Amino acid sequence: LDNGLALTPPMGWLSWTRFMCQTDCVKYPKHCISEDLFLEMADVLVKEGYQAAGYNRVNIDDCWMTKTRDKNGRLVADPVRFSHGISWLADQIHKRGLLMGIYSNFGQRTCMGFAGTDLNNIETDALTYAEFNADYLKFDGCFQPENRLNQAYPKMGESLNRTGRSMVYSCSWPYYILTVAKRQPDYPSVVKHCNLWRNYDDIQINWPSVLSIIDFYDANQDMFAKFHGPSHWNDPDMIIVGNQGLTSDQALVQMALWCLWSAPLLMSNDLREMMPGTREILLNKRLIAVDQDPLGIMGKRFKQDNDIGYYRKPVTPLVNGKHSFVFVVFNRAATKTSVTLDFALLGLEEALIYDVVDLVSGEQLNRLTIADTINLEIRSTSVAVLKATPLLLNTNAQRDGDEKS
Ligand code: DGJ
Repeated sequence: LDNGLALTPPMGWLSWTRFMCQTDCVKYPKHCISEDLFLEMADVLVKEGYQAAGYNRVNIDDCWMTKTRDKNGRLVADPVRFSHGISWLADQIHKRGLLMGIYSNFGQRTCMGFAGTDLNNIETDALTYAEFNADYLKFDGCFQPENRLNQAYPKMGESLNRTGRSMVYSCSWPYYILTVAKRQPDYPSVVKHCNLWRNYDDIQINWPSVLSIIDFYDANQDMFAKFHGPSHWNDPDMIIVGNQGLTSDQALVQMALWCLWSAPLLMSNDLREMMPGTREILLNKRLIAVDQDPLGIMGKRFKQDNDIGYYRKPVTPLVNGKHSFVFVVFNRAATKTSVTLDFALLGLEEALIYDVVDLVSGEQLNRLTIADTINLEIRSTSVAVLKATPLLLNTNAQRDGDEKS
């Protein structure tokens, strides 16, 4: 959607996968969907360096609203769990220098049975989100047939635009067509109307779920990559790094591949109690830079050799018109494996010399020429992530000179 927003993939926090639809604030005061939860997450984003790293959104998912509309036909927040109302919450989030996202579902009811947005409510609800001072809408599509989805999603996009407020528009449209109805979505239309969109099932907090998303994206990468770029992103779903359920190696796999794809980085975790070592993964500025690379190219797998997948993404800087590349090597085996990388395998240009950096550790590796190889050991269900930047020939002459003197 060409609205000048989401020029790089959105980053932030989203409630669903970790907190789902917990509405019992008496029993679960720290974990229920309430204004307190979103404010606490906003505070941690700011205090613990997430905001500084780029995670600048606090997004609300399902279950924030009442079961029915108010007497004016408007969507309203649950008066107990959001006692100050959504505009107040948006103000609080904005005061912290963050942006707020809201959620609704096309149809009479949300997936969890709260008040939904049917065709005749779309314009009113778009105005409501603008009055809330929301900066983002996730528009879900549970229970709807394809022909109605095809009407509703463009209509909501146009209605958001007419409010005059800048709101990123996240669509679940192709998910309900491709994965649920098993039909081909009209991706050119999705690109035209949405800033990002889901294609596949909800992520769950476990490794098989992460793997199933990776497999689905690998299988459909050519189709997805064609429709991917600044202001229009495929969304493989939330980042679950930080939760129990993945080892730290598996957490690194998710972060590395989502960054390789230039996927939205919307964490769904409890920022107040993160698994050891996971904050560092989420805050790895070299990986985040791969995700946020201005070219916004979705990297792809170019080779699968038994349990080892090899992925490549063209990124900046361009040196004399030649791309730099990020490589992810993913070992899905139950054991540690050794791999050898060379120019032929990586598809690098024989005439060039590359500087190679390990993006996980930040360590500078040897320069890579046609005559060299890189040997790596990759732990079980883990990745290596390397960036190769072409060197300018005069830079080489200079460096060679330096080394000799
Ligand atoms: C289905 C979506 O795919 C999820 O991300 C979440 O928004 C739930 N609906 C909420 O009911």
